[in-house]
Amino acid sequence: MHLTITPPDDMHLHLRDGRAMADVVAHTARTFARAVIMPNLQPPVTTAAAACAYRQRIIDALPEGSNFEPLMTLYLTDLTSPDEIVEAAADDTIVGVKLYPAGATTNSDAGVTDLDLVIPTLETMSEHCLPLLVHGEVTDPAVDIFDRERVFIDRVLAPLVERVPDLRVVFEHITTADAVAWVLQAPPRIVATITPHHLLLDRNAIFSGGLDPHHYCLPVLKRNRHREALLWAATSGNPRFFLGTDSAPHPRHAKECAHGCAGIFSAHAALELYAEAFEDADALHLLEGFASHHGADFYGRPRNGGAITLVREEWTAPATYAFGDAVVVPLRAGGTIRWRVAKEEDVGTLER
Ligand code: NCD
Ligand code: ZN
Ligand code: ZN
Repeated sequence: MHLTITPPDDMHLHLRDGRAMADVVAHTARTFARAVIMPNLQPPVTTAAAACAYRQRIIDALPEGSNFEPLMTLYLTDLTSPDEIVEAAADDTIVGVKLYPAGATTNSDAGVTDLDLVIPTLETMSEHCLPLLVHGEVTDPAVDIFDRERVFIDRVLAPLVERVPDLRVVFEHITTADAVAWVLQAPPRIVATITPHHLLLDRNAIFSGGLDPHHYCLPVLKRNRHREALLWAATSGNPRFFLGTDSAPHPRHAKECAHGCAGIFSAHAALELYAEAFEDADALHLLEGFASHHGADFYGRPRNGGAITLVREEWTAPATYAFGDAVVVPLRAGGTIRWRVAKEEDVGTLER
């Protein structure tokens, strides 16, 4: 069995920087034509000039012959000025601005402390059709970690959407039935990305066989009923839900320790893992829209040309991959993955 689709785009990807970036970018470029690159480096990518320099470093690190296109983002801070937005909007390689509530996730310390401070900036984004990409969790320590996304909708996102008319918003890596329901009732300028791990795993995975740091990410995995809602949304054919892996590599030693980092690395097999989730939902015919059409359409980019073929053939994921001076442990490390991407030279030999 095989499935041929338009080459996909990953609309939420962490590549990091330096030698580690050079090691991970090839995984994504293997299957994805483009990716929206997250700006939470240290220091964060806060200006159009910094985004342009980072983009060049990514392109320089690509394997020979790769046409992979990085779509860049700016990191919103309390100090991001409307002028900076005007400059970013004029740059065709920048596709959005990322909101990290300060303290919500990895490298979010420079994030926004109070949205009231950036309203003029958000209004300028709205005028220039530059979307806001949102890590949607409150940081209030009094709110249970499993409720932080749901509470964010009520306290922050819904009021924001009212306050800045026409602002286009990507609710990133949604994890709850509440987020699915909210997106469906929101205006069409509101869309959401869904990760492979939130489609395949529920919160039991964090504890199965002993505490497993490689299943710790933010927003944290939720109950199975939320996973089912996400799978329903991803396989609904609704163009407002699309692929964003949130592949977020950390060196093994930063995961396997006390106070380990949040983030799951899935770029080694992202499309293949989505195919598993869609197959389980009997919805393989809807994978192409989710992976290759809806995101491009939202960002106003042409759909990719060419084709990519997935084959229903099992393989074993390695225990680790190279990651700069260290290694990264991938999702499903040492386990079986049910699909693989066909090599170009093999595609002609597959039966139709
Ligand atoms: C991401 C990272 O490591 O940069 N971690 C994560 O758990 N998702 C940050 C993020 O996307 O929130
Ligand atoms: Zn995030
Ligand atoms: Zn992320």
